[in-house]
Amino acid sequence: MKTIEDLGDLRGKRVLVRSDFNVPLDGTTITDDGRIRAALPTLQALTSQGARVVVVAHLGRPKGAPEAKYSLAPVAARLGELLGQPVALAEDLVGESAKATVAALQDGQVALLENVRFDARETSKDEAERGALADELASLADAFVSDGFGVVHRKQASVYDVALRLPHAAGTLVLTEVEALRKAVEDPERPYVVVLGGAKVSDKLGVIGNLITKADKLLIGGGMMFTFLKAQGHEVGSSLLEEDQVETVKGYLAQAQEAGVEIVLPVDTLVAPEFGSDDYQVVAVDAIPAGTMGLDIGPKSAALFREAILAAKTIAWNGPMGVFERAAYAEGTKAVAQALVDTEGFSIVGGGDSAAAVRLLGFDEAGFGHISTGGGASLELLEGNTLPGIAVLED
Ligand code: 3PG
Repeated sequence: MKTIEDLGDLRGKRVLVRSDFNVPLDGTTITDDGRIRAALPTLQALTSQGARVVVVAHLGRPKGAPEAKYSLAPVAARLGELLGQPVALAEDLVGESAKATVAALQDGQVALLENVRFDARETSKDEAERGALADELASLADAFVSDGFGVVHRKQASVYDVALRLPHAAGTLVLTEVEALRKAVEDPERPYVVVLGGAKVSDKLGVIGNLITKADKLLIGGGMMFTFLKAQGHEVGSSLLEEDQVETVKGYLAQAQEAGVEIVLPVDTLVAPEFGSDDYQVVAVDAIPAGTMGLDIGPKSAALFREAILAAKTIAWNGPMGVFERAAYAEGTKAVAQALVDTEGFSIVGGGDSAAAVRLLGFDEAGFGHISTGGGASLELLEGNTLPGIAVLED
């Protein structure tokens, strides 16, 4: 992939940068600004060269029309604080406001276009529709830098089509992410242990299928563990269960056994009558009382996972072990994060949720080998897929 240096002298040039500013919000308050901070190296590299930087980004999944709650206004304000210079926010994407905002940029300044998903053409499956938007975006700039790693698995106008229309390069975030994740996929130092969590098995089917042929051990926690436990014949009370995935999971368990890949499931779980209840207890997974739901892995499971993580040379982690947002249900996720810090192996934290968990639980990011800003994108790389937003930069 070409880098920013390959674009030559950028002083006075308008550079369109695709960033992923899809940050969690509580109203208009950003609760985790990790993705904005991760965008800074590229933006600073460009401003320090005197480029005129035009950032395009999405927030949430608006339905192709403006919606106030998905405005990038809070992001523009935070980005300005972090960069130490104001960031002008255009009121639209490619309209009069965007054109005027870009025209007003001075060398070394940064502007942000309003949420790219306010335009239905961004996510259209129709190449001509996406192309029309990409033409308008391209007309705002002289070069394109792709740095929204979290969105490179999407074939969308501002990720894919615009790169076909302008001299382009990968930003430092995309380069760093791809290097770290490809190493785990293509040439992991062994033992290679993957920890998977999060609510849904169905989101992770592709990655599980692929990992059975690649990893040495798979540790399963989070809401998805109950579908695995059910597949093993356990009763899971009112825990999250994807009944329609039980057969698929049985297939995975058989496949793993045949391939000599160990799937490690929790041996205990923290249960409560309902989410939010403080009336919780730890039970063995073969003794989950009817009418209770599992909300975290238990301490014996956490110790088991820790042991596997400490013995590994490469560890990839995607998805929290429990509902970590509530302190009482966060111990399993904390234990896994701590083991990733303590291991001598190279640890990769992928998935928006696990990365946010690590920060919200107060871990120092420097303790991990690599914290990915990508959710779906990092999973797809671990699956071994070709990602359109990367492929288009590799031409
Ligand atoms: C993410 O949060 O994973 C990325 O920003 C992509 O968002 P999307 O799943 O809505 O395309």
